[in-house]
Amino acid sequence: MTGRKELNYKPLFNEQDLKKRVSELGKEISDQYQGEELICVGVLKGSVVFMADLVRAITVPLQMEFIGVKSYDGTSSTGHVQITTDLTADIKGKNVLIIEDIVDTGMTLDYLINLLKVRGPKSLRICALLSKPDAHIMKNDVDYVGYEISKEFVVGYGLDLDGDFRQLPYVAQVME
Ligand code: IMP
Repeated sequence: MTGRKELNYKPLFNEQDLKKRVSELGKEISDQYQGEELICVGVLKGSVVFMADLVRAITVPLQMEFIGVKSYDGTSSTGHVQITTDLTADIKGKNVLIIEDIVDTGMTLDYLINLLKVRGPKSLRICALLSKPDAHIMKNDVDYVGYEISKEFVVGYGLDLDGDFRQLPYVAQVME
């Protein structure tokens, strides 16, 4: 275990699983945006590891942007989301792909969609490595999903527990 703290965990998706799935997503996205250009908007910080691999699996021209969001309460999703870091690019008339680590209640995503939609992108789609359909409160469509999982808390491959374990090269379920 490479995390700062001890973690009782069960591996869910190993490095090979992730590599294969990310490459499939990259192909699907590339096929859909043939002849177009893309702005990939990574949601900080959880999407960074996934995004780094995903953009290398996408073959259409793209730019990388980041947006930072934070829930007021810090540990659970309250829906009271605020921006900590905004985009540096104007997305008006551009194809925007939001890249999320995980969609849990969907509140963060809902906030981001509303925020970015009013900036006039040509298109706005969502890609999430993981989705917990049973936890969704907001029902926005996620266009590209790596894996659907149940409500368990997971870490690794960018996902954290109180800031730790993001660097694990696999996704693991945290056990009580
Ligand atoms: P939502 O607004 O409830 O969809 O929450 C989205 C954010 O909560 C994600 O971008 C993650 O940062 C965090 N999150 C939700 N579930 C997990 C989990 O299982 N592990 C780590 N972070 C999670």
